[in-house]
Amino acid sequence: MKRIEKTIHIYPTLDTVVGTVTDGRVSWMNIVCVGMWGPEQMVISIGKLHCINKGLLENRTMSVNMVDESMLARVRRLETAAGEDENSLHIFDYFSGELSSAPLIAEAPLAMECRIADIIETDTHYNYIVTPVDTYAREDILTDIGEIDYDKYHPALSGMPAIKMNSDRGGKKMEAIFNRRSVRQYQDRAVEDEKLEKLLRAAMQAPSAGNQQSSEFLVVRDRDSLERLSGMSPYSKMIAKAPAAIVLLGSAKRMRYAENWEQDLGAAAENLLLEAVELGLGAVWLGVHPLEERVDYIRRQFSLPDDLRPFAVIALGYPQNENANHFEDRWDASRVHYEKIG
Ligand SMILES: Cc1cc2nc3c(=O)[nH]c(=O)nc-3n(C[C@H](O)[C@H](O)[C@H](O)COP(=O)(O)O)c2cc1C
Repeated sequence: MKRIEKTIHIYPTLDTVVGTVTDGRVSWMNIVCVGMWGPEQMVISIGKLHCINKGLLENRTMSVNMVDESMLARVRRLETAAGEDENSLHIFDYFSGELSSAPLIAEAPLAMECRIADIIETDTHYNYIVTPVDTYAREDILTDIGEIDYDKYHPALSGMPAIKMNSDRGGKKMEAIFNRRSVRQYQDRAVEDEKLEKLLRAAMQAPSAGNQQSSEFLVVRDRDSLERLSGMSPYSKMIAKAPAAIVLLGSAKRMRYAENWEQDLGAAAENLLLEAVELGLGAVWLGVHPLEERVDYIRRQFSLPDDLRPFAVIALGYPQNENANHFEDRWDASRVHYEKIG
């Protein structure tokens, strides 16, 4: 045995969705901190900052819904919507059992409506001790005599698809490609200079037409500059709260195959985003070129010379949500054509 970094390694854990009613509306949250509390109860641990706590503390009821692979993409959407209006996403159809404020997900393989028997509060979390009132199972996971058929019931485990794919691929190397997400909420924590340099090194490793390396990079960390930069479009407000942003610039002086510069910059941007995942950071690509008003706005803010054209801004930082970068399956066979179309 080799001693490794001290972490909790009861992994993978079950992927579940907790449901309740908050301010009269159904609300959901994806929870992986779930465990047994003695033989007849469960403990569900939820960070105090999450808005679902309001409903849970008021109602003292919740549903605990197991997730299967068919639900995973929507469960991940739920995570990225955290803090936004997840009700508006109409993510799951639901029904009520005995308890009015414990909505049960109709398509969940297993769903339990529960009363909250006790709450153990720590500085950061509410640990809800819950007692199931009733359990519902989808018929296709049951045997003829109504018991769970474990050959048919395959609950999702946290991080499962990524694990599966990586083992298929024989290593961890490509994980960032699959787990990268646009991350728009960051901790109030500076990004170290060494990490910024690694991001820029990764960007510069990208392919470019004729190896012209037409990209340059403007690193912005000054709070006032970040706030001004955030005004470049209605969709870039997160820059104001990001510890750093990198403006990707196309340099006319470096271009020998000018018609290809957007492709050079696109490849550099993606490399940078992938390296951010590797470094435990979260980042989002914000489009600039070819929208002239955004290009002009950035030019004015930083008094850029004419030969540098802003292509994109990457806002980045340590993600607020530790699961911010996660796998979302986008495989779509209908987008692939072999030899001919149709
Ligand atoms: C060219 C381009 C422009 C984008 N512009 C914005 C933007 O202005 N604001 C934003 O929040 N996200 C922006 N994004 C991020 C996309 O919204 C995001 O990549 C997409 O929704 C897929 O989600 P994912 O990145 O989490 O996989 C942009 C992405 C690209 C490639």
